Amino acid sequence: MSRFDLQDQRNHPRNSTPALTALIDRALSRRRFLGVGATAGAASFLTLNPLSHAVAAAANSPLLGFNAISASGEDTLRLPQGYRWEVLVSWGDPLFADAPAFSESERSEAAQSRQFGDNNDGMSFFPLAADRALLAINNEYTNQEYLLPAGKVTSLADVRADQAAHGVSIIEIALKDGRWQRVLDSRYTRRITANTPMQLSGPAAGHALLQTQADPSGRAVLGTFNNCANGETPWGTYLTCEENFNGYFGSQDPALALSAAQKRYGIAAVDAGFGWHAFDARFDLAKEPNEANRHGWVVEIDPRDPQSVPKKRTALGRFKHENAALHINSDGRVVVYLGDDERGEHLYKFVSAQRFDKSNPQANRDLLDDGTLYVAQFSAKDGEIRGEGRWLPLVHGHNGLTAANGFADQASVLIHARLAATVVGATTMDRPEWVAVHPSGQQAFCTLTNNKNRGTEGQPVGGPNPRAANHYGQILRWAPAGGDHASETFSWDLFLMAGNPSVHPGTAYAGTANIDADNMFNSPDGIGFDADGRLWIQTDGDYSNQGDFAGMGNNQMLCADPNSGEVRRFLTGPIACEITGLTFSPDHTAMFVGIQHPGEEKAPSHFPHGGMPRSSVVVITREDGGIIGG
Ligand code: FEO
Ligand code: CA
Ligand code: CA
Repeated sequence: MSRFDLQDQRNHPRNSTPALTALIDRALSRRRFLGVGATAGAASFLTLNPLSHAVAAAANSPLLGFNAISASGEDTLRLPQGYRWEVLVSWGDPLFADAPAFSESERSEAAQSRQFGDNNDGMSFFPLAADRALLAINNEYTNQEYLLPAGKVTSLADVRADQAAHGVSIIEIALKDGRWQRVLDSRYTRRITANTPMQLSGPAAGHALLQTQADPSGRAVLGTFNNCANGETPWGTYLTCEENFNGYFGSQDPALALSAAQKRYGIAAVDAGFGWHAFDARFDLAKEPNEANRHGWVVEIDPRDPQSVPKKRTALGRFKHENAALHINSDGRVVVYLGDDERGEHLYKFVSAQRFDKSNPQANRDLLDDGTLYVAQFSAKDGEIRGEGRWLPLVHGHNGLTAANGFADQASVLIHARLAATVVGATTMDRPEWVAVHPSGQQAFCTLTNNKNRGTEGQPVGGPNPRAANHYGQILRWAPAGGDHASETFSWDLFLMAGNPSVHPGTAYAGTANIDADNMFNSPDGIGFDADGRLWIQTDGDYSNQGDFAGMGNNQMLCADPNSGEVRRFLTGPIACEITGLTFSPDHTAMFVGIQHPGEEKAPSHFPHGGMPRSSVVVITREDGGIIGG
């Protein structure tokens, strides 16, 4: 999330609705008593135990082999006893032998494009050999208060330096003396920035809405930015997801007329503060109204080929993409779950037309160009936080997606996926962030981080979004009918609702039964499973440690047992950071975690090197060399 979003999230009024909270609380009590699995509608949850078992089994998880740590306001990273961390790479570290060392005061496009980018986020591990690997790491955005001497862009040179600190970094790492370390100047090292040439591919490529003065073909686009979370494919490629792209576009004309579609995507004459449009005409909405349509996609990158051209896969739809959780279905089709991180937006999935062929890697290269995009619709009985759901296809000519309703063709449906989702009746959600599929393939989980607008017009309280003015968030899970992720129906429940049982005891804002004063947190965001099925939860929330958030401390990472529902705090981050980005070495003895924007808005952090705070990837290991979390 950007600093602008964070400001917006704070200090919002909470709508107290006693009747509603009582209703939810009764539902929770009923769940605790009966158990989700005891009801006919959720039979597909029986293989993994229902949440209700968490109450009885709370402290006995066989999966969680570490002692929980307390909340923290310290400017460091804390871990359970027996664990250690070290910095792998920080913003501004040189990636090439000819790159300059990090400087607190000098910035240039030339330097930033040869150094590790800013605000590392999602990342994936690609093995090269037992002791060598590549990490592909998103560099979501920048903190201009540290990046630029004036704290904001004042020239085209500033814009170019800022753009070069965005994108993706691909680095090689090697296991030396038992430690994963960076390899400087590997032949694989690559920086992909907001100006790297890439292709638009799939059904929307070439469409009139994607054509600009610089690119009449509608197929050749420069760069990627606001690369939030990620995914990876079994054919060895990296998926980087473009999130708050709208905030980079603006106009010098505050009265600029905007279309309904532009407004739905949050595009406005006033940008999010990056200031690019004042110096780079590509980002000026009055001069290039279609450029913004060329962003907001999932981009596929081959990390093993530094010459390869990244491809924006338009079949996966255009919205504020969080991550891309890819699962190979039992029939070989590729399913990709996709969240749109905006208050009242939606949860999507893509199902490929063709099947994954393990024996023929080249045949899989364009699987993400052809398939069906769906959006989720949830149903539940009043006051219940479980129910059924349907995936509604976003296919031109069906379900009202017609020219009469503003969709001339399938490309228009994909480019304006949010509008299409509304037409078919998708459920508005509390900001879908990461999706993760359990290694058994039986269930998928999605963080719904928070939503101060829940309960306002168009965002009714209920179903998977059960609390008005929700600033704590919840984790949704669903099981596809028959274990088939291509199925159009599923059952769902809430794995947990975050909350503050100290400040709001006895109400829905206390959270579910598996949340207590020792493990409470707000705003779950990054999630991922390890091979043993532990659910790792990273937070991007209010770190004021006051009021509704008293006792929660800095942003943190927790680990949950999806069988018992137990949640334990594993990591606390430094001041004003967000924890985001998670991957493991194949043997799970090393965990890579992202510490993003420590000290944002000039908060008093000097993490991790002293001096100016710097976003960093850290490596976590056990002193005894064991499996992380076990
Ligand atoms: Fe970049 Fe929704 O987080
Ligand atoms: Ca977030
Ligand atoms: Ca996020």
